[in-house]
Amino acid sequence: MFKEEIIKLLVKETRLREEELVNLIEIPPNPELGDYSFPCFILSKREKKAPNQIAEHFAKQIKLPKEIESVRATGPYLNFFINKKILAEQILKINSNFGKSSVGKKHKIVIDFSAPNIGKPMHIGHIRSTILGDSMMRIYNFLDYSPIGINYLGDTGLHIGKLIVAHELWLDKAALKKDPVQELLRLYVKFCEKEKSEVVEGADADEEFSNNEWTNKAKEKLKLLELGDKTAHKIWEDIQKSSGKGFDKVYNLLKVNFNETTGQSKFSEKGKEIVMNALKAGIAKRETDNAVYVQIDKNNPDSKKYILRSNQTASYITQDLGAAVERYKKYKFEKMIYVTDFRQSGHFSALFTILKTLDFDFSDNMFHLGFGTVKFGNEIIASRTGNIILLEDVLNRTIEKAKEEINKRKTKGDPTKVGVGAIKYIILKNEPIKDVQFSWEQALSFEGNTGPYQQYSYARASSIIKKAKSKNFNKAKIDLKKYNLAKEEIALIKKISDFPEIVIQAGDKMNPALIANYSHELCQTFNEFYHNCPVLNPEKDKSFSVSPNPKKQGFEDDKDNNKETEAFRLRLVDSFRTTLENALYLLGIEVMNEM
Ligand code: ARG
Repeated sequence: MFKEEIIKLLVKETRLREEELVNLIEIPPNPELGDYSFPCFILSKREKKAPNQIAEHFAKQIKLPKEIESVRATGPYLNFFINKKILAEQILKINSNFGKSSVGKKHKIVIDFSAPNIGKPMHIGHIRSTILGDSMMRIYNFLDYSPIGINYLGDTGLHIGKLIVAHELWLDKAALKKDPVQELLRLYVKFCEKEKSEVVEGADADEEFSNNEWTNKAKEKLKLLELGDKTAHKIWEDIQKSSGKGFDKVYNLLKVNFNETTGQSKFSEKGKEIVMNALKAGIAKRETDNAVYVQIDKNNPDSKKYILRSNQTASYITQDLGAAVERYKKYKFEKMIYVTDFRQSGHFSALFTILKTLDFDFSDNMFHLGFGTVKFGNEIIASRTGNIILLEDVLNRTIEKAKEEINKRKTKGDPTKVGVGAIKYIILKNEPIKDVQFSWEQALSFEGNTGPYQQYSYARASSIIKKAKSKNFNKAKIDLKKYNLAKEEIALIKKISDFPEIVIQAGDKMNPALIANYSHELCQTFNEFYHNCPVLNPEKDKSFSVSPNPKKQGFEDDKDNNKETEAFRLRLVDSFRTTLENALYLLGIEVMNEM
């Protein structure tokens, strides 16, 4: 919060831009050097002076607002000391809106996420997209954007042709009713066995063979479906309905919602229209076999990207072209983000380039948020297919294991909240582009950088508040003038005050890991405070006298200092709780008062 004051001050003094300063300002390694530090190197060239001299000049010159106590030059650094008491007063006042800001000005951001393929079960790659996209939705909402979450279902493509064939030949109706996802998977796997192809997860990733009777059957069915054949259409609807049930189960468990759910197939026609326009404009060309392509790189004839199949049916990119144009028409978004596996980055960069060449300038505001692989190490997941790791299996096993852990520790707590939170956390604490090493032991540990550790810290803070409920500490008058802040209190106050800026950064950089790692540090800082600064009845606590602080903690002189110190610390615990709850909310993780 006071970093913003320092930035404002430096904008005036240095004439650097706010955005530049946000990234330039550092936190000194040792709080004795200062709370924030501005390295003066960057001004050296412009001012034709050594950075040390610049720092000294500013230290003498600068007029400080009341929030900043003093400023000092240390070598090339200009170090700021903030007024901790004023900051503490502000921290005590925060409420459930803490961390929200108005930077978004209601601008629309479309987020295309989750996007599983109907007929196939959701796999662990989709979970990462779902969790990441949902967290970005929450972050943008907090920043007062108007995010629009779209679930772009993969409801067409060769796998649908394969499934229609299998559905006609081998469907077990009772099994479909009992467990739709399982039965559809069985059908798909059986087809792949016949075709001798690989069972794969992604959209348009299905193997196709040129002279295979099974591939041909699937292609035929797909063509029939696109031509509006009634029987094929009915089966397709049935597949859609059945797998929709499976998806909803997962979304309910994860508590994820969308503003719009639209299948890819809806955009085939629009896509084809765009392809035809591109042909007319000479941007796209026809191959001898009638397929249509765009040469992405003018100097490289090998950079052909096919945007229409030789049999004139739409492919993955044809539909994405159509969807992008329709979405812009509908939402006039300021930004659109696609959350998928990084291996689709070629697809998206081609999509953006083609749109740009076609003069759709909104393509400058489209981003691919690519993420790495979720790896399972040596833990074997019993899945019926071997290759496909089922999302539902992972979720259910995690909840099961959370239950075991809770029983073992003889604690309270809701296994679903702990299990789901653990999964969301292990996914989100990693930068999107990094791979996630998934292990149950790590995800569910109550110690270290995990979801349960943070939920547990929250519950601990809640139990302190609960014990003090009757004390009316919220009404106590607290005047910090005579209060000696302990260093653990200062650390906690400062940490809490960093939150609003972390949220802004997470939005700018499309990176919820910034929030996850912040909230981990917040919990660590809280736990340190809790161990060193007795909250309830501080004067009577034995640990009070062995405090590492040379100065006496809490209030001086006052007769009633015990009560006032207690009230101050309780309010601080409460502010911590509010901040942590908001941080975890942005990650989609629920908190519990008892655990
Ligand atoms: N269904 C695709 C898959 O599972 C992801 C779709 C992503 N969104 C898009 N507009 N292409 O790989």
